Amino acid sequence: MKFRSFPAAGALFGISILFIFSISTCFLCACQIQKPEEPDKIYAGVTYYNQSDTFLNELNSSFKEQLKSFANDDLEVSVTIRDAAGSQRIQNDRVRELIDMGCNVLCVNLVDRADPSEIIDLAKEHDVPIIFFNREPVAEDLMQWDKLYYVGAEAKESGIIQGEMAVDVIRADFNRIDRSKDGKIQYVVLEGEAGHQDSIVRTENAVDTLKNNGIKLEKLSYQIANWNRAQAQNRMEQMIVQYPNKIELVLANNDDMALGARDAYEKRNLTESALPVFFGIDGTDVGLEAVMDSRLSGTVYNDKEGQAAAMAKLAVALISGKGMKEIKFTNDKYIYLPYSRVSEENVKKFLK
Ligand code: GAL
Repeated sequence: MKFRSFPAAGALFGISILFIFSISTCFLCACQIQKPEEPDKIYAGVTYYNQSDTFLNELNSSFKEQLKSFANDDLEVSVTIRDAAGSQRIQNDRVRELIDMGCNVLCVNLVDRADPSEIIDLAKEHDVPIIFFNREPVAEDLMQWDKLYYVGAEAKESGIIQGEMAVDVIRADFNRIDRSKDGKIQYVVLEGEAGHQDSIVRTENAVDTLKNNGIKLEKLSYQIANWNRAQAQNRMEQMIVQYPNKIELVLANNDDMALGARDAYEKRNLTESALPVFFGIDGTDVGLEAVMDSRLSGTVYNDKEGQAAAMAKLAVALISGKGMKEIKFTNDKYIYLPYSRVSEENVKKFLK
């Protein structure tokens, strides 16, 4: 009996040791798995539709500055920016390069907002989250993966604010602005790219706001100038020739185009009283200066610093896994920053 009990006890002892050993190994492993790995590098790859865009150049420099402010002894931060030169195909290649370079978060300002599939597939394949910005992809595309986000602003709001500012300026000085004295304001529109969320929506809302406030309007013409000052100048020159001394109001979808329109008039050396009133959107450096010296009657501030800050915060949260709960999303994926009106009275507040 005793003889038999010895091996049995030995076996029991052996099993217990094995059990304790495996439990502690599991525990150790579990500890290792549970301890989150702190990232030591945020490497953001930014690509935008065109390097000649004034507003986006200002937004990108603000993003670079703000993301870099997160750097510390344990966290290295770097930002690489690539121009897509107006081609979606080039942009897809840029994204591939950024991923190959080791970027762990992408910020994408699409060339064609309806064509992000290839970029989304690449990002998914390499598990790199994307923050789209300024050119809003269609909702279905953003639903393709849970690591896709959008930072921007609501186009409708900017159109309404531009319309309200125009209402105030026209009401305050109707007799001077209505040069034809027909009780109506003859206007033209300079639009951004066709198909951009900020083009048609801004125009429609600005015009509707003027009409809803009792301003009688007559639309003479509209031209697409792709956000660009030189193109706007050119289009405006054509409209001046077509409607000599008739145009009383210029609504432009952004500051660069409002300034291009103004350039067209300045080239003709007309006196101030023969000029229409000009309204832009963005509050770029040149736009704010123009409001300051009354070359533009008003602009609408497109909060590039706020958008850049939201992108930087989101990029850090996505990589570190911290701070996501503090970010306020609309429909889980969108961050919209508000616009504000900029007139001669408050422009100083916006100037750096
Ligand atoms: C708009 C901005 C324009 C231009 C455009 C590019 O929001 O007002 O100036 O930058 O985005 O997508």
